[in-house]
Amino acid sequence: MVKVLFVCLGNICRSPSAEGVFRHMVDREGLADHIGTDSAGTSSWHIGEAPDSRAREAAHRRGYSIDDLRARQVAAEDFHRFDYVLAMDDQNHANLDRLCPPGREDRLHMLMDFADTSVREVPDPYYGGPQGFDTVLTMIEEASAGLLADIRARHL
Ligand code: 4NP
Repeated sequence: MVKVLFVCLGNICRSPSAEGVFRHMVDREGLADHIGTDSAGTSSWHIGEAPDSRAREAAHRRGYSIDDLRARQVAAEDFHRFDYVLAMDDQNHANLDRLCPPGREDRLHMLMDFADTSVREVPDPYYGGPQGFDTVLTMIEEASAGLLADIRARHL
């Protein structure tokens, strides 16, 4: 089983959206027995909470459901459990780099490294309007296709 962990700050907007989009793609491709997904936040602020209602609504409009997901905080142990630890922005990446146990640095990537774009970060939509959540979904959809191609090439 190849395991993928999406990480943002709160684990209520970007990373649960990424988990929802990517697991949908994995299901559609018939790979649910081969690829596992999860998400987490670098902060403890929203532990146990469902995704932000704006993220849930934007996901529903595109045919995804993330209603079942609950926030948790990322831990050093995650670098032993997951093959891919994917940061949404540079701040997440810096925090994950500090948390990462020695020798596990190869697990850590920016999500957008898997998209065909020079844009590096998925912008935090929390303090903006609803269109920010659509932008996030579009970026995640682009990166998800590249991520799945990378997993197929390296692991399946
Ligand atoms: P996320 O967005 O990191 O994409 O889940 C945020 C959620 C909550 C907060 C900031 C960003 N917050 O400040 O509580």
